[in-house]
Order: sequence, then C-alpha cells, then structure tokens
Amino acid sequence: MFPDQRLSQDQHLDFARHFGPLETSIAVYRKDARLRLRKEFADVSNLDHDNELWRKESRLRLFQLSNRLWHTDSSFKRLPARASLLYARAIPPVGGHTEFADERAAYDALPEDMKRRLDRLVAEHSIFNSRARLAFTNFSDEERQQMPPVPQVLVRTIPETGRKSLYLASHAGRIVGMPEHEGRALIDELIAHATQRQFVYTHRWRVNDLVMWDDRCTMHRGTDFDDLRWKRDVQRATVSDAANSCEQEGIEIAAA
Ligand code: OGA
Ligand code: MN
Repeated sequence: MFPDQRLSQDQHLDFARHFGPLETSIAVYRKDARLRLRKEFADVSNLDHDNELWRKESRLRLFQLSNRLWHTDSSFKRLPARASLLYARAIPPVGGHTEFADERAAYDALPEDMKRRLDRLVAEHSIFNSRARLAFTNFSDEERQQMPPVPQVLVRTIPETGRKSLYLASHAGRIVGMPEHEGRALIDELIAHATQRQFVYTHRWRVNDLVMWDDRCTMHRGTDFDDLRWKRDVQRATVSDAANSCEQEGIEIAAA
C-alpha cells in the first residue's frame, strides 16, 4: 500500500509497467460503455463518462456489482492478471472497503486429503459465470463469443517462492472431468474456506491510496456502500501474468 500518492493517469500506468505488460480493459468489448479513462484502465468507479453517478438501472452498475463477489482479476482471460494496482481518487464516507484473502495461507490450512484431491484439477473461468451468480445474464451472443471460458488450475505454485496457492474466483464454473453441480459445490466450499476471517485483510480506503496486490495468490472483493449517493472513483491498472496458470503448472490445454 502506497498512501498519499498524487498520480496522473500516465504516472499510474508508468509505475504499473515496471511489473510487466499491462492489460487492456475488457470494457473495450462493451457496446454500452463509453470510456472515462484511458483504455488500459479498469474503471472500477460508480461514475459514467461525464463523471456523474451512474443511474440505478444502468447496465454498468449491474456489471460491476460482481466486484462484490470474491474473485481474482482477469482469471476469465486465458492470460490472467499477475498484479493489480488500484488507485483511489474519491472514496465514500461509509463502506466501500476492499477485502483481500490470502490463498496461500488458505491452501496451507487445507487437510492433506483435500490437497491431494485438488492436485492438477482445472476449472473453467468465465466472466459470465460471476455475472450469472447475481442473475445478470443479459449478454448478446457477440459479447459471449468475445470472451469464451478459459482453463485455470485450482492450485498453483508461485514461481518466485515455490509456495502453493489456491487459485479461485467467482468466475470459476465447471471443473474439468467432474459433473457440473459437483464442481460448483467444490468451488463454493473452497471459496468459503479461503475467505475465513483469519485469511482476510480489509483495506479501508483514503483518497490517494495506491494498493497493489498479487492476483496469483489472493482474492478480493469490494464491500457495499451507498453507490447512488456517494462518488467512489477508483481506477485499476492490471499487469498480465507470464502464461496461463495451467501452462505454468505443465498441464496441457487445448490451443486458444
Ligand atoms: C478491482 C476490484 C473492488 C473494489 O479493482 O479489481 O475488484 O473494492 N475492486 O473496488
Ligand atoms: Mn477485481
């Protein structure tokens, strides 16, 4: 966490680029969204392109609501995020925190037979899974085709430390080789395990905080606030990982 930063959009992106190549926001795929920020940013604010609060019925609002579910960024992309850098320009007086769960600690705390069961399992991640969890399914075929489900391992090794970590998200749906309902039940059980109090840090934002996290071994979620009353202006730069998580574990997957 870097407090009291005064960053232009360019400075924020330049700093993020030190850690690797940046993602382009998936908002570029959306027909409804005119971008408020440069295309490298994920605009996580509750503002429209005129810097006004979004409206209750806006599609953007529905889309972002899934940030309240535990997830890791861009696991629905074949090449997911390695790190995220979120910067706060405006913060509501009540709520709107971000919670983080340490999936390495959560992995360590699993019973040995569960660790064995998870070894080399692969889940399919899709942005439409996390949206469907909140009953948001109104997407065109074109939108769906642009972001097909991608494989990610359930347990990964962090190369720099050799430590194992769960790799979970509300984007995860089917587990490969398992009936769908069983896979989903297992994912929900693991997310519940990984987000117990002892694994979670809550960041209570102040304006000009820059918070950086490792998407490979943490999950996060935003907490509730009165989004039709207060502006919460936060923007995220996202660094891509080196390879798909299955590829990093030496598990063969179909070519993209
Ligand atoms: C994100 C995100 C949650 C929040 O920026 O990736 O999920 O609290 N943010 O804004
Ligand atoms: Mn996120």
